[in-house]
Amino acid sequence: MAMPLFFFFFFFFIGVSHQQPFLNSGEQESVYQVLDSINSAIPWRTLFSDDLCNSPPHGVVCDYFTEFNTTTNDSSTSETFHITELSFGYVSDFTPNPPCSENSTLSPLLFTSFKYLRKLFFYKCFNSTPVSVPNVSAIAVSNLEELVFIENPGFMGSLNSLVTNLSSLKRVVLIGNGVYGEIPSGVGDLINLEELTLSRNRLSGKMPNELGKLKNLKVLDLSLNSFDGEIPTTLSNLSELIKLDLSSNGFNGRIPESCKGLEKLEFLDLSFNSFGHFGVPLFLGEMVKLKEVYLSGNKFGGKIPNIWENLEGVLRIGFSGMDLEGSIPSTMAIHLKNLSYLGLDNNKLEGIVPMEFGVLPLLNEINLENNNLSGNVYFPEKFGQKLKLGGNPKLKLFKKKTLERPYSAAIVGIGSSSSSSSSSSSSSSTKVFIVPSMVVNVFIGLLVLLYF
Ligand SMILES: *[C@@H]1O[C@H](CO)[C@@H](O)[C@H](O)[C@H]1NC(C)=O
Ligand SMILES: *[C@@H]1O[C@H](CO)[C@@H](O)[C@H](O)[C@H]1NC(C)=O
Ligand SMILES: *[C@@H]1O[C@H](CO)[C@@H](O)[C@H](O)[C@H]1NC(C)=O
Ligand SMILES: *[C@@H]1O[C@H](CO)[C@@H](O)[C@H](O)[C@H]1NC(C)=O
Ligand SMILES: *[C@@H]1O[C@H](CO)[C@@H](O)[C@H](O)[C@H]1NC(C)=O
Ligand SMILES: *[C@@H]1O[C@H](CO)[C@@H](O)[C@H](O)[C@H]1NC(C)=O
Ligand SMILES: *[C@@H]1O[C@H](CO)[C@@H](O)[C@H](O)[C@H]1NC(C)=O
Ligand SMILES: *[C@@H]1O[C@H](CO)[C@@H](O)[C@H](O)[C@H]1NC(C)=O
Repeated sequence: MAMPLFFFFFFFFIGVSHQQPFLNSGEQESVYQVLDSINSAIPWRTLFSDDLCNSPPHGVVCDYFTEFNTTTNDSSTSETFHITELSFGYVSDFTPNPPCSENSTLSPLLFTSFKYLRKLFFYKCFNSTPVSVPNVSAIAVSNLEELVFIENPGFMGSLNSLVTNLSSLKRVVLIGNGVYGEIPSGVGDLINLEELTLSRNRLSGKMPNELGKLKNLKVLDLSLNSFDGEIPTTLSNLSELIKLDLSSNGFNGRIPESCKGLEKLEFLDLSFNSFGHFGVPLFLGEMVKLKEVYLSGNKFGGKIPNIWENLEGVLRIGFSGMDLEGSIPSTMAIHLKNLSYLGLDNNKLEGIVPMEFGVLPLLNEINLENNNLSGNVYFPEKFGQKLKLGGNPKLKLFKKKTLERPYSAAIVGIGSSSSSSSSSSSSSSTKVFIVPSMVVNVFIGLLVLLYF
C-alpha cells in the first residue's frame, strides 16, 4: 500500500496550481463526500482544496458544457464545468486512482449528484464489507455511458437496480464481483449498449429474449456464472456482435441454427456448458470473420464436419472433450492456413492425422491426446512441449527426414554428422547445404587422384 500511495500523491502534487473556480460548490462537495466514502483516512479536502476541475485527484475528470439560460430567455450562453468521470481503486502507477480502503462504501451521491457523469469505475474497492447499489428514488446520472466494476467480490446486488433508467449506457463491465440473480428483461431497453460483460459473478437463470433487442451490441460475455436454459433464438438478431463468450455456465439444448446470422462474429466461446448431442454446429462454416472458436467440454458428438472452406482466418480451435468420432478431415489442414492452435484431445477420433498439419506455417500448438489415432505423423521440432500426442497407442511421431525417400535420408545423415555448425536448424534446410558440399568433396577427391 505504501508505494501506491506514494505515487498517488506524487502525481497529485505536480499538478497543483491556483486559478478561479470552475466547478460549482455543490458538485465539489459531493466529490469530497464520495472520496471520503472510498477512503476516509486521506484528508481529501486539505490535499485538494482547490477547484476540483482545476487540480483533481487522478480518476476525477471534468468537462465543460455550454448551457442556455432558460430563465432570461435571451440567447446568452454560459460555459459550466461538470464531473464526467469518476474512477476509484489504485490500478497502477500509471492509473493511480484514489486508493480504496478496507471499508469503502458506495455512496448514493454517485447516482444522485452528478448529472453529467459519463463513466463510473471501481477496481478492487469492495472486498470484505458487502456493498450494494443504493436505493435511490431519483437517478440523476442519466448520461452514464460506462459502468465498470472489476474485482469487487463484496459488490453484491442484482442487475435490476443497476440497469433501470440508465438507457444511455454503452458499456456495462462487471467482472469478478458478487452480482447475483437473473438478467432482467429490462436489459432490452438499454438500446445503446455496445458491451455487456458480466464474467465471474453469481448470476443465474436464462438469457432473456430481450437481449436480442440490443442491436448495437458488439461484446456479450456471460462466462463463469451459473446461467442455464437454452440460447434464445433472438440472439441471432445481434448482427453487430464480434465477441460471444458463454463459457463455463450450464447452458443446454441445441444452439439455434439462426445463429448463423452473427456474421461479424470473430470470437465464439461456448465451452464447458451442457449443450446437447447435436454435433458441431454447421453454421460455423458461414461465420467468415471467425478467428477463435471454443466448444470444448460439451458432448456435441458426431464427426468433425467439412465446414472449413470459408474460414481461412481462424487462428484457434478448441474442440476438446466433445465425444467427437471419425477421422480428422484433411480439409481442416488445407483451408485453415492461419491456424496456430488446435485442441482435439479427449475425443474418440481415429484414423490418420492429415500430413498437411505438419506444414501449416503458423501452427505451434496442437493437442491430440487421448484419442484412437493411428499411423505415422510428422511435426517439426518448433512445437516442443506444445505437441501433445499421448494416449494414442497406434500413433507414431516421425522426424521429417525418415518420411522422405531412404536415399536422400542417408545423404542427410552423413552430411549432418560431418557438419558441426548447423546443430539446431531443421533437417530440410540442412540438406540444402550438405548435398553440394558432398559433391564438392568428391570432386576435390577426384582432382587430387588425377593430379597424382
Ligand atoms: C440566468 O440568468 C439569471 C439572470 O441574469 C441569473 O440570475 C441566473 O444565475 C442565470 N442562470 C444560469 C444557469 O446561468
Ligand atoms: C421566450 O421566448 C419565446 C419566443 O421565442 C416566447 O414564446 C416565450 O413566451 C418567452 N418566455 C419568457 C419567459 O419570456
Ligand atoms: C474504516 O476503518 C478504519 C479502521 O480500519 C477506521 O479507523 C475508520 O473509522 C473506518 N472508516 C469508516 C468510514 O468507517
Ligand atoms: C429498495 O427499493 C425497492 C423497491 O424499488 C424496495 O422493495 C426495497 O425494500 C428497497 N430497499 C431498501 C433497503 O430500501
Ligand atoms: C425510470 O423510468 C420509468 C419510466 O421508464 C419511470 O416511471 C421511473 O420513475 C424512472 N425511475 C427513476 C428512478 O428515475
Ligand atoms: C429478431 O429478428 C426477427 C427477424 O429475424 C424478428 O422477427 C424479431 O422480432 C427480432 N427480435 C427482436 C427481439 O428484435
Ligand atoms: C492470415 O494471416 C495473415 C498474416 O497474419 C493475414 O495478413 C491474413 O489476412 C490472414 N488471412 C485471413 C484469411 O484472415
Ligand atoms: C481403436 O481403433 C481400432 C481400429 O483401428 C478399433 O479396433 C478399436 O476398437 C478402437 N479403440 C477404441 C477404444 O475405440
